[in-house]
Amino acid sequence: MIDKVYCADVTPEMEGKKVKLAGWVYRKREVGKKVFIVLRDSSGIVQVVFSKDLNEEAYREAKKVGIESSVIIEGTVKADSRAPTGAEVQGEKLQIIQNVDFFPITKDASDEFLLDVRHLHLRSPKVAAIMKVKSTLMQAAREWLLQDGWYEVFPPILVTGAVEGGATLFKLKYFDRYAYLSQSAQLYLEAAIFGLEKVWSLTPSFRAEKSRTRRHLTEFWHLELEAAWMDLWDIMKVEEELVSYMVQRTLELRKKEIELYRKDDIKTLKNAVPPFPRISYDEAIDILQSKGVNIEWGEDMGADEERVLTEEFESPFFVYGYPKHIKAFYMKEDPEDPRKVLAADMLAPEGYGEIIGGSQREDDYDKLVQRILEEGMDPKDYEWYLDLRKYGSVPHSGFGLGLERLVAWVLKLDHVRWATLFPRTPSRLYP
Ligand code: 4AD
Repeated sequence: MIDKVYCADVTPEMEGKKVKLAGWVYRKREVGKKVFIVLRDSSGIVQVVFSKDLNEEAYREAKKVGIESSVIIEGTVKADSRAPTGAEVQGEKLQIIQNVDFFPITKDASDEFLLDVRHLHLRSPKVAAIMKVKSTLMQAAREWLLQDGWYEVFPPILVTGAVEGGATLFKLKYFDRYAYLSQSAQLYLEAAIFGLEKVWSLTPSFRAEKSRTRRHLTEFWHLELEAAWMDLWDIMKVEEELVSYMVQRTLELRKKEIELYRKDDIKTLKNAVPPFPRISYDEAIDILQSKGVNIEWGEDMGADEERVLTEEFESPFFVYGYPKHIKAFYMKEDPEDPRKVLAADMLAPEGYGEIIGGSQREDDYDKLVQRILEEGMDPKDYEWYLDLRKYGSVPHSGFGLGLERLVAWVLKLDHVRWATLFPRTPSRLYP
């Protein structure tokens, strides 16, 4: 039996060894009495040479295959200093699993076309690299959460109320009434802390955002944490430790993939170690005004303002202490300044802006009811949530991290849609 190996594992030290490879034809070239096939699998690529003089039958099969055909190849490893991994394979047998005459994706395909054929584009090594980085970021998050004692929980996606404002809710028919798709697991995580204290979840979150920006999807993957007995400053420490671990671990495990996108420009990633710089909202407004941005105290910062602010930093950083009226109803009022809430966003540098939204939660029943009314909502819709402030209410805090936004920054992508398998935007629901 010949061992099956991955393409990237074919090394010069295996000189003379018989190997079996399974994958897809990535490139093909014919020169004289030889066919050169670059074979691709999930690990990477390796060149296989089929020579008419050495093995005529395999050579004939190799002549037949088209780009993206699936094949199983057997051959002998040859050290070759010109090959990317220092070795290639002398092909001796080629079994065509499925031959492909014509693959629709060619070199000069537009972004829109690539999104139309996303189901085929996903096999490109550059796209696979993004998915590997995303997978490794979550693997790292899980490692950190486990060693720091957080419980994973599994909240519902079909819900009855808004967390982040009614304007971006997706409404759907639920038998003889209506339900919504979850914007955030937060309210459910808040219920879970009374039994588990430190909880987290990874769920899809939905936002009916019509805004076509580089950082909005209608469906994104949301990593959320919620903890009892933590104030805003405690949860900010959790945020920076978690993000730092995710980034440093991914730098360690996915150097090759990150280099594909950043070359050796990894300074801001390396800089992502605690403590991240912290500035108040007031300071942020001063900085923006001093740089000529037309913004007044009390106004929200959009992507443009955040981009200008990120020029001041070479690592992720926090903006804390936002005005109450621009933030969500559940955020705790600042006891020292009732115009503000105990909220902090984490912004990524290099123009990326907000990757985390977090806050201490309002734990006082009467204040929370008042905030719900101020927002023009009905406290009846939040009865169960208000109950949490009646039976052993505790100071608590939490946050949500948009995974695609983190990936987009780590790989310097020009749009969050490249950071998800099948992006959902106002104009795209297929494939
Ligand atoms: O700031 P947001 O809206 O906060 C919440 O949803 C809180 N309830 C989370 C919590 O405290 N548990 O969203 C949190 C993060 C943002 O910082 C951003 O990274 C991401 O979710 N996000 C989006 N990502 C892609 N597309 C969108 N439309 C996004 N909206 C938010």
